[in-house]
Amino acid sequence: MKNSIIYDCTLVEFPINHKLSGNITAINNFIEVPFDIKRVYYLYDIPGGEERGSHAHKELKQFKFSLSGSFDVLVEDDNLKRTFNLNKPNIGLFLPSGLWRNLHNFSSGAICLVLASMEYMESDYIRDYEVF
Ligand code: TYD
Repeated sequence: MKNSIIYDCTLVEFPINHKLSGNITAINNFIEVPFDIKRVYYLYDIPGGEERGSHAHKELKQFKFSLSGSFDVLVEDDNLKRTFNLNKPNIGLFLPSGLWRNLHNFSSGAICLVLASMEYMESDYIRDYEVF
């Protein structure tokens, strides 16, 4: 199940199409993202001090972005922990399967966008830290 290590997580800078009237960042299946995007979801209206995640996935791969505001992603493998601060809409965190993750330190108004390689499937979750 633990088929990844924290060093497999990658922060990726996506191109910005910049104009005085504003920016666009585009993300394409298999071009910038190394998997077929099957699902897109976003976390928002997160009350101050709340945490999300606290689970691992057996197969699911993800990209996480902070579209607005900022938050921290703590990832953990068998041996090590590593924290990424996401605070720019064009910087994505690639998360392979098999790592424990916890999202915390959400700023007011933070929006976390997630691109996922699978449809929602509860059986893909490992929610028990002892099992992980
Ligand atoms: P969960 O992934 O545990 O949230 P987080 O990791 O952000 O704390 O999801 C919480 C609930 O939301 C889950 O029990 C079912 C529902 N849900 C869906 O219905 N579809 C989805 O794509 C996701 C991510 C969650």
